[in-house]
Amino acid sequence: MSGAETAVRVLVVEDGAGLRRGIVTALRERSLEVVEESDGARALARLRAPDEAVFDVVVTDLRLPGADGIALLRAARERDADTAVLVMTAHGSVETAVEAMRRGAFDFLQKPFDLEQLEARIARAIEHGRLRREVSELRAERASGVGADRIIGSSLALTRALDLARRAAPVRSTVLVTGETGTGKELVAGLVHQASPRAKRPFVKVNCAALPETLLESELFGHERGAFTGADRLRIGRFEQANGGTLLLDEVGDLSPATQVRLLRVLQEQEFHRLGGREPIRTDVRILAATHRELERDVAAGRFREDLYFRLHVIRIHLPPLRERVEDLLALAEHFLARSCRELGRSGVGFTTAARERILSHAWPGNVRELRNAVERALLLADGDRVDARHFGIPDASARPGGVAPGASLDLEETERALVMEALRRTGHVQKEAARLLGVSRRKLNYMIQKLAITHPSWRRNRGSDPAPPSVA
Ligand SMILES: Nc1ncnc2c1ncn2[C@@H]1O[C@H](COP(=O)(O)OP(=O)(O)OP(=O)(O)O)[C@@H](O)[C@H]1O
Ligand SMILES: [Mg+2]
Repeated sequence: MSGAETAVRVLVVEDGAGLRRGIVTALRERSLEVVEESDGARALARLRAPDEAVFDVVVTDLRLPGADGIALLRAARERDADTAVLVMTAHGSVETAVEAMRRGAFDFLQKPFDLEQLEARIARAIEHGRLRREVSELRAERASGVGADRIIGSSLALTRALDLARRAAPVRSTVLVTGETGTGKELVAGLVHQASPRAKRPFVKVNCAALPETLLESELFGHERGAFTGADRLRIGRFEQANGGTLLLDEVGDLSPATQVRLLRVLQEQEFHRLGGREPIRTDVRILAATHRELERDVAAGRFREDLYFRLHVIRIHLPPLRERVEDLLALAEHFLARSCRELGRSGVGFTTAARERILSHAWPGNVRELRNAVERALLLADGDRVDARHFGIPDASARPGGVAPGASLDLEETERALVMEALRRTGHVQKEAARLLGVSRRKLNYMIQKLAITHPSWRRNRGSDPAPPSVA
């Protein structure tokens, strides 16, 4: 889902106009995105501005008007530990250069230098940063399980949710993802991150319901060594780990009142303290939150802080339960079947019509997760290449639509018509799905629809009074 490679951003801070111009021109010729500043204070403000994208490399003079290079170094690394800072020093100020290296500068260059030297060091810094990022990306992916997951479904409800997720991606606003258990909240949160400019930065998740209050706070904010009994090492919290990236607060509705207060303060002030820490820590983190609870109800009942609620639900993405997007059922089932088959090295396995019926008629209270599990289990139970209704451990909820009652009409066309109508109704008149449900090709269904003169308002009419054959091509 990651788009085109984003340009490498470099901030050049140098008060000498001639040198600055030389550096900027040379770097732009290499297709780098370059921002220049001549004043230390202005550069500092830029590094701290929340809406300024993170820099991959900062090239700075040590002595500057407004603020010195060491302050810039600190600010850059606070903002993003992956930013490589290259310090330029005047001849003879080796001590300050050493100091800069001690504080985490990537490299230093003594003036005067030629631009080729500088370019070589920047290339090294970029390569270094790229590798670091790849590592943290892989780590985050492994931790979260996103990455390879595809989002399946074409229902209006899901399409809307995904569209909103993509629109929300580029901005920094908090997104609240709601929906019943197993509806894909985590998956959609992952999409927001992956479609955002932060895609290459960490995507960190915290399950707020999984930990007791005290542990959760240290999980979120970290702790200093000796902050409490047992804290024998400094611990970096999730907020710091997510720096430059995205933090998903999963099951946010389950936060304790005390943690709600702390979280609210962090969101307002954009800084926090590690437990037992005195120095405030600033991070650049985009917050996403998810919950299966109806937060409005919790707010009304006084269980969830209203102010925090408003902070979190700047953008709201709601995922309706699967029973309200029947159109997605078969596509999801086929997707999970194909995936499980791949994993098991089986091929050519498909659902019987009865299995499709069963899938479409079940209410799926556990939503997509339940469907996935049911398909996986059914495949294991099916020895041959047909997964049948009986392989699903779910009761037959439908009132036997295919059965023939003793006194019922045996008119073939009438029965055919009833079945086609029923299949269309169940699939929201999506013919592709209806054809699958009936176990016939789309061409065959199209033929039947024309023969039986079935129409529906959602199918475009044309050619005068003639009911148009709906296109299923
Ligand atoms: N539209 C979809 N396409 C493909 N897979 C999906 C889709 N929606 C959900 N899934 C899969 O279903 C499972 C459950 O999804 P997810 O964990 O995102 O749900 P959730 O809403 O966060 O659930 P919970 O409330 O229980 O935490 C996951 O394996 C996910 O990959
Ligand atoms: Mg979840």
